[in-house]
Amino acid sequence: MPHISIISSSVRAGRNSNRVALYFKNYLEVNKLATVEIIDLLIYNFPVFAERLKFQKTPPPAVLEFAEKIKSSDGILIVTPEYNGGYPASLKNVVDLLYDEWHRKPVAISTVSDGVFGGSQVITSLQFSLWKIRAWTVPATFPVPKVRDMFDEDGNPADKPATDKRAANFINELLWCIEAKKRMTN
Ligand SMILES: Cc1cc2nc3c(=O)[nH]c(=O)nc-3n(C[C@H](O)[C@H](O)[C@H](O)COP(=O)(O)O)c2cc1C
Repeated sequence: MPHISIISSSVRAGRNSNRVALYFKNYLEVNKLATVEIIDLLIYNFPVFAERLKFQKTPPPAVLEFAEKIKSSDGILIVTPEYNGGYPASLKNVVDLLYDEWHRKPVAISTVSDGVFGGSQVITSLQFSLWKIRAWTVPATFPVPKVRDMFDEDGNPADKPATDKRAANFINELLWCIEAKKRMTN
């Protein structure tokens, strides 16, 4: 069974996009599709980026732990809110922190907003940064509009059948990329 890390990106007081991270953790576990860990950037509370991990002389244990979690995951699911058409500084902070750990890593992106467009503008800038760092972004989207209407605080969807159906399509693409990578010999 693959291991998937879900990056919950928002560190905002009273954040709502974490609901989507909780939903996916539950979805993947209940359907026995993967073992899952949420990497919560609010809990890590990293300082603003100063240098890449590989150039840090005395990296903090939390940074090493974070890097190891990315490296050892078969795939990553990023849940990101849209802030002014882009992704939050907390997420850029950890993308830039690592390098080789991202290489060819299957990464699926779920975008979140409280408006009607589901964070549709954030996907372009995040895809581009991940492409630059040589991650393997999965060509599937899971936009979440009106996040507070769609999920409760524990990540339970208001319309479970419809949400699970969309999630199945999205997650299948991530799992396909994970399996394809596994089958490569080099
Ligand atoms: C600084 C800031 C900028 C925002 N910019 C956008 C935006 O450009 N487009 C959008 O749809 N929503 C925008 N929103 C609303 C967010 O999508 C909404 O607050 C969402 O819940 C953010 O996720 P979070 O609650 O996990 O932080 C913005 C919110 C903040 C705090």
